[in-house]
Amino acid sequence: MLQEINETSNSYKIYNKSCMGLEGIEDNSIDALITDPPYGISVFNETWDKPQEQEIPNPKIWGDCLRVLKPGAFGLVFSFPRVMHRVMWHLEEQGFIIKDVFSWVYFNGMPKTRNIGVDLDKAQNVKSEVVGTYKYVQGYKKNGAETYKVQQEKPILEPSSELGKKYKGAGTNVKPFYEPIILVQKRPEGSTAENIIKHGVGVLNLEATRIPYLDGETKVGHNPHPLGRVAGNILTADELEKEYFKYFGVQLADVELTEKFIFKSKVRQNAENFNNHPTKKPVRLMEHLVKLLSWEGQTVLDPFMGSGSTGVACMTQNRNFVGYELEEKFFDIAQKRIGEAEKDRLERLDF
Ligand SMILES: C[S@@+](CC[C@H](N)C(=O)[O-])C[C@H]1O[C@@H](n2cnc3c(N)ncnc32)[C@H](O)[C@@H]1O
Repeated sequence: MLQEINETSNSYKIYNKSCMGLEGIEDNSIDALITDPPYGISVFNETWDKPQEQEIPNPKIWGDCLRVLKPGAFGLVFSFPRVMHRVMWHLEEQGFIIKDVFSWVYFNGMPKTRNIGVDLDKAQNVKSEVVGTYKYVQGYKKNGAETYKVQQEKPILEPSSELGKKYKGAGTNVKPFYEPIILVQKRPEGSTAENIIKHGVGVLNLEATRIPYLDGETKVGHNPHPLGRVAGNILTADELEKEYFKYFGVQLADVELTEKFIFKSKVRQNAENFNNHPTKKPVRLMEHLVKLLSWEGQTVLDPFMGSGSTGVACMTQNRNFVGYELEEKFFDIAQKRIGEAEKDRLERLDF
C-alpha cells in the first residue's frame, strides 16, 4: 500500500524549470503537496513575485497538482492574508476541497507602512526635519562575514508641519503576525477507509505530530494521550512569543516554548549564510507539516521549492521529494541543502 522509501540517493527529484504542467510526474502518483508559492505581492521587489498580465501564482498549477496527487491526498499551500481569498477560490475552482486554514504565527514580521507624518509634510511642501541617519541594510552575512552588507545610509526624518506632527507614527498597516496555510484535499474515492486501502492516503498523521504537554499543565479529558495534544491549526512559538500569548490571555507555563510548541519564527537571512532566499521557511515548521501530511516512504511535491526547505524536511523525515524551481540561483541552493540533508539521512540510517 505505501511506497517503500528509496534508500539510494535518488529519494528526491528536483527540476530547475517551471512547474507549470508538472512535466515528468505521472497522474495520481504523489502522496502530498506542500508548497509556498509566490504570493503576488511584489515581496522585496522580486520579479518572480510581481503580478504582470497573469495572476500569481497561475491558477492552472492547482489543476496540475490535482492531476498528480493520489485521490484523497492532502495539500498545504502557504498564502498571505490579503490574497488568500483568491488562492482559496482558485484551489476550489480547480477541484480541491478546502479543509482548513492554519495560521503560522510569528513575532518578527515587519509592518509595511509609510511614514505618514513626513508624507504629509511633503504633500504640503514643508521640509521635514533631519534628526539623524540610519543604516539601511539588506541581504545576508556573505561567506560568514561578521556584519550585514550595508546598502546605504538614509536620513531619519521628523515631521515639521502641524498636520505631520498630529499624524506622526500613524500607519496604513498593522504588524503582520501570521501567514495563512491553506489545507486542501483531493476528493477521496469512497469512504476514507476505502481510499486508504486503495491509495495509501486520505488522513492526517495526527499521531506523529502530537504536541507534548507543557510542564505542569493540567491535562484535558479523562484519558489524556501520553504523547500530548493533537496538533492544531495554529502553528507557533518562539521565546518572544511567550509575551504575545500572555498579551492575548493564553495561559502557558513558564517553559521552553521552542521545544514544546515546535514551530520557529521566520528565518533571518543570515541563518545559513549561503542561503539568501528572501522568503525561506524554517525547516522545523516544514518538518511538522511533512509529518502531518505523510508517512515515511511517501512522496511529497513542492512545485515552488525556492531554496528547498520542504525537500530538506522530507530528507530528515524519510520521505521522498519532488521539487521545481524556476530560478537557477535558488535551484543551486536547494540542490546543496537537499543533497546535504540526504547525505545525513543515509548516514543516520547507516546505509
Ligand atoms: C515563496 S518562494 C519559496 C521559498 C521556499 N519555501 C524556501 O523555503 O526557500 C517561491 C519560489 O517559487 C519560484 N517560482 C516562481 N514561479 C515559478 C514557476 N512557475 N515554477 C517554479 N518555480 C517558480 C520562485 O523563484 C521562488 O523561489
